[in-house]
Amino acid sequence: MLVLSFESSCDETACAVLEMSDGVREIKSNIIASSVDVQALYGGVVPEIASRAHIEAISKITYEALSTAGVTIKDIDLIAVTNGPGLIGALLVAVNFAKSLAYANGIPLVPVDHIKGHVAGNYLTHKKLEPPFLAFVVSGGHTSFFDVKTYTGFDEIASTRDDAIGECFDKIGRVMGLPYPGGATVDNLARVGNKHAVSFPSPAISKDTLDFSFSGLKTAVINYLNTKNQKNELYSKEDVCASVTYSITEAIKDKVSRALSETGYGKIVLAGGVSANSHIRDELNELCRELGAEFYAPELSLCGDNAAMIGAQGYYEYLNGARAGEDLNAYPS
Ligand code: KG4
Ligand code: ZN
Repeated sequence: MLVLSFESSCDETACAVLEMSDGVREIKSNIIASSVDVQALYGGVVPEIASRAHIEAISKITYEALSTAGVTIKDIDLIAVTNGPGLIGALLVAVNFAKSLAYANGIPLVPVDHIKGHVAGNYLTHKKLEPPFLAFVVSGGHTSFFDVKTYTGFDEIASTRDDAIGECFDKIGRVMGLPYPGGATVDNLARVGNKHAVSFPSPAISKDTLDFSFSGLKTAVINYLNTKNQKNELYSKEDVCASVTYSITEAIKDKVSRALSETGYGKIVLAGGVSANSHIRDELNELCRELGAEFYAPELSLCGDNAAMIGAQGYYEYLNGARAGEDLNAYPS
């Protein structure tokens, strides 16, 4: 079945065409237009700018996704669209566009949860991967463990109690004057810094829970940077990035081992924009090798927001009986 999918929950407008059937998971096109360059001028996502950029981009990228895949709208069997969580004005652009296209062409439409979509990016990378498994979703808005019982049945078992991991990387990056969003630059600088240079608090909070808390770590790093600036003392951005990353990866390793042992799963799937982080990928790979568990992460092109992951999840939602009517709405959280 040919699936046309859309994603506009934040600052990426994305459209993809997939071939999905029993044993086939193939990306035929995966187009992304981003307003990140404009958002960078403001140091973060301005919702109205994101919505306007989606409106400008969505028709164009749909033509591009169809033509790159070598198909027309008449060939499409299913339309999938992210309807939450995300910025409401941004979500509504793709939801309305997808509804119109589905209605005008008599094509079934399914709504897709953005977080489930991130996990489904792994099905396109690892063609034989199937639930059940433990998923760890790390993005700009989320840091959660899920018990993924089936392709569509997720139970959240733990999460951050405050900031998301990506938000923490981005805010620290902003205070150091790194380009927005800072996550990828922090990752690169950390590769050449000394991870033991500064001791920052752990986001792992207590041993009795799988939950995280990133606000204490974020505040500690910002205080460290502000104090250095006030005293006119030099600091090494590379060392700060390496030390923050070390504190985060140690906490993640601790929680992941615990989550695997508590759930009894021998398989963990990493997902979300922060799954591109080379340190987290390397450390989890190593940890799972030691524990004898299987570790999966999306290929780098499928870590950040994209529509291919939404099409993959949409296909499984469709098989599970999901259908959206003309009253489909978007939800922010
Ligand atoms: O999933 P995503 O594209 O958007 C949300 O759904 O939130 O995630 C975006 C987040 C941003 O915070 C960005 O800085 C972070 O993913 N990110 C990274 C890396 N690449 C992107 N964080 C750490 N290391 C990276 N290599
Ligand atoms: Zn995302």
